[in-house]
Amino acid sequence: MTNTAIAVSGLRKAFGDKVVLDGIDFDVSAGTIFSLLGPNGAGKTTTVNVLSTLIKADGGTVRVAGHDVESEAKAVRAAIGVTGQFAAVDELLTGQENLQLMVDLNRRISSRDGAKIIADLLERFELTEAAKKPASTYSGGMRRKLDLAMTLVGNPRIIFLDEPTTGLDPRSRRTMWSIIRELVADGATIFLTTQYLEEADQLADRVAVLDQGHLVADGTPDQLKREIPGTHVRFRFATVTELDTAAPLFADATRDDEALTLRVPSDGGTRSVRALLDRLDEYALSADEFSVHTPDLDDVFLALTGHTTTTDTTEAGK
Ligand SMILES: Nc1ncnc2c1ncn2[C@@H]1O[C@H](COP(=O)(O)OP(=O)(O)OP(=O)(O)O)[C@@H](O)[C@H]1O
Ligand SMILES: [Mg+2]
Repeated sequence: MTNTAIAVSGLRKAFGDKVVLDGIDFDVSAGTIFSLLGPNGAGKTTTVNVLSTLIKADGGTVRVAGHDVESEAKAVRAAIGVTGQFAAVDELLTGQENLQLMVDLNRRISSRDGAKIIADLLERFELTEAAKKPASTYSGGMRRKLDLAMTLVGNPRIIFLDEPTTGLDPRSRRTMWSIIRELVADGATIFLTTQYLEEADQLADRVAVLDQGHLVADGTPDQLKREIPGTHVRFRFATVTELDTAAPLFADATRDDEALTLRVPSDGGTRSVRALLDRLDEYALSADEFSVHTPDLDDVFLALTGHTTTTDTTEAGK
């Protein structure tokens, strides 16, 4: 409970009779990345909108930076930055003018400080060269970067990023990831929504999975991977005889005679893996190969929600 940046309890939100958030709870520690995963329409943007004071919840309590989003909305707004799912960039203005607009809207920034902030952000986001061109001429990746740069003008300590890398090519996505990591290294807290499971796996300290109004999981990426069925240990033996000896030793083991492998369900934790190895030892067996297989977040999603994500996961492979 030290230093909680975001505390959400019993959050409810419906649009008409459609319940989008049916009582969700989670906390985000300061200086960490929290990722909310969910398919289209799960309620990710709705959650961001409530947490960033854009819309009101129907029930529950939400505290951001120590302030209640409803009764202390102004204090919350002063502490946060929001990069929405759809870019807030003004197409007719140049990159520099878009940033200037943010400086002008922020009364705490003097014009001299503003000029330096803008120059620094343009450089950091590799937009210096394009600074004087209208944003309408920017690529999708440049627009996303400009959008995030605009969010950072006021140096917010808690940053909401709603699908910051959707539609970006792999290189731009990696650039965005390193920017996000830098922000956290500087002490910021990040609330990130994504449909890319690999992204949550790469970036997040904690991941929550939203489905049909409920958080169906909440933990570290590794915890989630370990919790669901599918984690197993695989042994490969040198001979069929060894495989024959080993197979009856483990309940629920499945064997592959062709590959000479034995697949044993396990949570993958050190204790249970040690027990498996000890058992082999008891029978003076040794495996040529030994590996622990944890499912990736795609498997997690399927197991938890009973359906896959709607995103193309071609790049989520090994
Ligand atoms: N202002 C609104 N009025 C009515 N329904 C809404 C409104 N905003 C969102 N919804 C509904 O709430 C549900 C959740 O929407 P939300 O935008 O939060 O999903 P999401 O997880 O962000 O999806 P996506 O991945 O497509 O961005 C959807 O069914 C949507 O149609
Ligand atoms: Mg959304």
